[in-house]
Amino acid sequence: MGINGQFFSAIIPAAGSGDRLGASIPKALVVINGKTLIQRSVESLFPHVDEIIIAAPKDFELEISGLFSGSDKVKVISGGAARSKSVAAALSQVNENADFILVHDAARCFATQAQTMRVINALLEGDHAVVPGIEVIDTIKVIDSNNFAESTPLRSSLRAIQTPQGFSARILHRAHQSGNDATDDAALVEALGIPVRVVAGEPNAHKITTPEDLEWANRLVETNE
Ligand code: C5P
Repeated sequence: MGINGQFFSAIIPAAGSGDRLGASIPKALVVINGKTLIQRSVESLFPHVDEIIIAAPKDFELEISGLFSGSDKVKVISGGAARSKSVAAALSQVNENADFILVHDAARCFATQAQTMRVINALLEGDHAVVPGIEVIDTIKVIDSNNFAESTPLRSSLRAIQTPQGFSARILHRAHQSGNDATDDAALVEALGIPVRVVAGEPNAHKITTPEDLEWANRLVETNE
């Protein structure tokens, strides 16, 4: 049993391809300074949770389990065709006694343990859904299908949302029962009308997606590791 006698599970959807990154291997297995993205993402959660379930790309399950063979906390399953499907597959394997579930993208491999703890602390203080977010720099416009601006939300009220996102276990299970697709899990929880708390995020927790992101990541570790 983990922090405050509560059982914390974590899910890492890691079944994305390396296509947008220009990589010939799945993104989770791309190496930055000797360590894969998935190993780095696991490290940001590991000391604070009781189990970690990784949704791996098809045919790479064994390779990913091999990276964590020293720990019985980490379990690897096969992911699905979309992120929500990968999360749902992992969710079906979560320990039935879990009190809270964190969901963390493998691609946000520089989120720190401090970020994980900000999410966990808000859950322990009574929130049922918690996401990290940072202020946006650009003005964001909502556009129509013909590329005309429809509206301009007030920038100070916008946040770019990251992971790990944390939820009361029963709420995340309920949110995924809809079977709907969403780019993050909090959106499914919001659809239930449940308040989602936003805590401070971190600029370095941004999602590694493009070759430029990978260059940025390599520069970051050159300075810090
Ligand atoms: O594609 P996107 O960048 O939104 O992916 C976010 C996270 O979801 C990544 O960690 C990726 O590995 C994961 N994913 C997944 N299964 C998919 C697609 C993406 O687990 N089918």
